[in-house]
Order: sequence, then C-alpha cells, then structure tokens
Amino acid sequence: MEYSGKLIVFEGPDGAGKTTQVKLAAERLQRQGYSVVMTREPGGTRLSEVIRQVLLDPGNREMSPVTEALLYAGARSQLVAEVILPALASGKIVLCDRFVDSSLAYQGFGRGLDLEMLRQVNRFALNGLGRFCTIFLDLPPEEGLKRGNKRKRDRLEQEDLAFHRRVWEGYHLLIKEYPERIRVVDASSQPEAVHRQIWKHLSAFLKGSHQGGVF
Ligand code: TYD
Repeated sequence: MEYSGKLIVFEGPDGAGKTTQVKLAAERLQRQGYSVVMTREPGGTRLSEVIRQVLLDPGNREMSPVTEALLYAGARSQLVAEVILPALASGKIVLCDRFVDSSLAYQGFGRGLDLEMLRQVNRFALNGLGRFCTIFLDLPPEEGLKRGNKRKRDRLEQEDLAFHRRVWEGYHLLIKEYPERIRVVDASSQPEAVHRQIWKHLSAFLKGSHQGGVF
C-alpha cells in the first residue's frame, strides 16, 4: 500500500523506556513542524483499549495462549483500520508504542505458539499496511523488570524471568530476520542519550536513506 505518511514503531522488553522515548521523539518532530500521531498497543482506540483491559487484567488467569494471541491481533486490526492507515494516508508521522513484533516475541517465543500461524493472523490484521520502521530498545530483561518494580505488575509482567528471557532472545532473532526494518538502540543509558541514538535512525527513515520494511 502506498501513502505519504510514515509509521515508526518502538519495541522492547518491559521497562526499556519506550513510552518516554515515544514522547521525546514526538515532541522533537512536532517542533520541526511534522504532524504527529502518538499511539500504543494494545490500545489506541476505544475498542482496542477495552481489549487491553481484558488482556492485562491479572484476574484473567484462565486465558489460553491462542485466545491471548487473537485478542492482541484483534486490538491491532482495529488500531490499524481506525487510526494508523487514515493517519498515513493524510501524510502524518505515526509513532506507535509496541506493534506486531511484540506478538511474535511474547506470544511466539514467550508462549511458544506457532510463528507461521502468528504471522498469518497478523498479516490479516495489518490489512495491507506497507513499509514501516521498528526501533528496538535493547535492555536485558533482568534490568527491565527491576525498573518496573515500583508499580503493580500486569498479567504479562507477572510471568517469570524465564518467560521474559525467551521474549528478549526472540526479539534478537527477529532483528536478524528483519534487518531492513528493525534498528537496535542500547536502552541502558540515560533517556537523552537513548533519544539521540533513536533520532539518528528516525531521521534516516524520514529522509528515505533508510527505507524500512514490510511485515
Ligand atoms: P505495554 O503497554 O507496552 O506495557 P509496558 O508499558 O509495561 O511495557 O504492553 C503491555 C503488555 O502486553 C506487555 O507486557 C507486552 C504485552 N504484549 C504482548 O504480549 N503481545 C503484543 O502483541 C503486545 C502489543 C503487547
């Protein structure tokens, strides 16, 4: 699909600082005159936020891995149709906190679901979405979980360290699989330093010297 806008996704383990970095990037882009839409997954639309509540509620202990994967894909498909594709069509820059790689990492590598099946379901959910760029904030899961200790953990964060290790290793396999789309940034330093690394990749993508890739 061809459009004039650009989609930039921020990925990484829990506690890597994605939310802070999305905000820093959005503010800088806005100062430069870009029209920016900030969103997050799961969520970003009324319906997707309802699905988010179901997914993250620690009370929903009986949820099967396949149900989990389909709910994430459902929330995603609504966000793509309602927010992302219209924004890209009108030339905006969309910054999204997590996207489809989260499903491959958490439901694929974390839960052990079939990767090919997950790819198919998610291609269906993406509805023809074209090239985008993914910035991976790299932080070992031990560090991320430590950073998140101060607040109440959601259903996924309550998984044990072995789960979060599989997720992190999964992300690293995805980086090898999608080298044209995923750019890696060291998330262990101060937010301003992380932002500077992100900005290099982001401006290359906006200028077109980095083309991004499809899912
Ligand atoms: P998020 O809101 O990013 O939580 P945090 O800000 O604490 O990182 O995401 C909520 C949780 O959902 C997070 O633990 C990762 C998980 N997740 C999946 O398992 N699959 C997915 O497809 C997505 C988008 C998120």
